[in-house]
Amino acid sequence: MSFAFGIGIGTQNNQGEWLEVFYQQPVMTPDNTLMDVISNALDYKGGNQAIAATAEQLSQLANALRQIGQTDQASLADKAAASKRPVVVTVLETDDTASSTPEVYLKLHLISHRMAKPHGLKLDGIFGLLPNLAWTSEGAIDLNELSDRQLQARLEGRTLEVKSVDKFPQMTDYVIPKGVRIADTARVRLGAYVGEGTTVMHEGFINFNAGTEGTSMIEGRISAGVMVGKGSDLGGGCSTMGTLSGGGNIIIAVGENCLIGANAGIGIPLGDRCKVEAGLYITAGTKVALLDDNNELVEVIKARDLANQTDLLFRRNSQTGAVECKTNKSAIELNEELHANN
Ligand SMILES: CC(C)(COP(=O)(O)OP(=O)(O)OC[C@H]1O[C@@H](n2cnc3c(N)ncnc32)[C@H](O)[C@@H]1OP(=O)(O)O)[C@@H](O)C(=O)NCCC(=O)NCCS
Repeated sequence: MSFAFGIGIGTQNNQGEWLEVFYQQPVMTPDNTLMDVISNALDYKGGNQAIAATAEQLSQLANALRQIGQTDQASLADKAAASKRPVVVTVLETDDTASSTPEVYLKLHLISHRMAKPHGLKLDGIFGLLPNLAWTSEGAIDLNELSDRQLQARLEGRTLEVKSVDKFPQMTDYVIPKGVRIADTARVRLGAYVGEGTTVMHEGFINFNAGTEGTSMIEGRISAGVMVGKGSDLGGGCSTMGTLSGGGNIIIAVGENCLIGANAGIGIPLGDRCKVEAGLYITAGTKVALLDDNNELVEVIKARDLANQTDLLFRRNSQTGAVECKTNKSAIELNEELHANN
């Protein structure tokens, strides 16, 4: 059993270097029969490889795939054989550190297709393999080639719109997982895991290797590496602290049925059924006054000591300014109408 496989249609720059790859039907853990077919048709001898397949090889692959009953993959291989754009067949024997752009794109697809969970794949070193590109109305363009393409488009009476300049494209140009609503598609990067029943409003953002387990209303930022549990809501403009730059090294997560208030933020992982008052940013070192049910002080501890604990309500006392923590007695009730996805 190998790790993953995908037939991709991609873009290369004038030097023949891969810029990006679209895998319509990536496969997780392809079985031995499928791997034998791939080995024969593409002269694949094992390891992790991105094979630039010729039309002839793809036709052979399509026939062999049809013979083993892989009709969807066979039809994809047939279409790829007639592609005007470069085709790559990426085979990952293991989830080792990626060594090429097509490999990275396959891994990002696996997460956005919900075939792998954030933190479930080895993604170290991917920044060096993802070129910074212009994402345009005519696809991905190498920044060194952009100016000529802009001129060419104008000369031919077209407008070339540059939608973003980034290493990651927006997820929706590659995959839209079932049962999601995304108000502003530019705010969810390829490699995001968007759980079924999630709504991402315009203010919401989901980075790669991060996402939601299920029903959630996301109006704040889900930083790289952060996973949000089922039934949890992120209020407008709120923030989950990332670990990529500056922040701590604790991996932030949000449990189930939590509410992070508008403009609030968390630098500790929350357990289930927690609430953070609007506007309150809890960092790991924040000193927190624990209050009992009568609002009497029990003790003062650091927020990191409350990491992953359930049923907490964090607020900043509006009279003293002290950050306080009480038992959260009212689990949030999600607004059914807001969460209804069609
Ligand atoms: C923190 C929060 C959850 C508290 O809400 P709640 O549990 O409904 O509590 P209430 O507002 O009913 O207040 C309960 C009591 O605590 C007091 N209280 C609430 N917040 C307080 C604060 N920051 N400091 C001091 N007292 C406070 C209230 O005055 C009230 O006192 P009382 O018992 O004397 O009447 C709420 O204020 C909040 O921030 N919710 C987030 C909403 C949000 O941002 N949603 C996302 C939208 S995009």
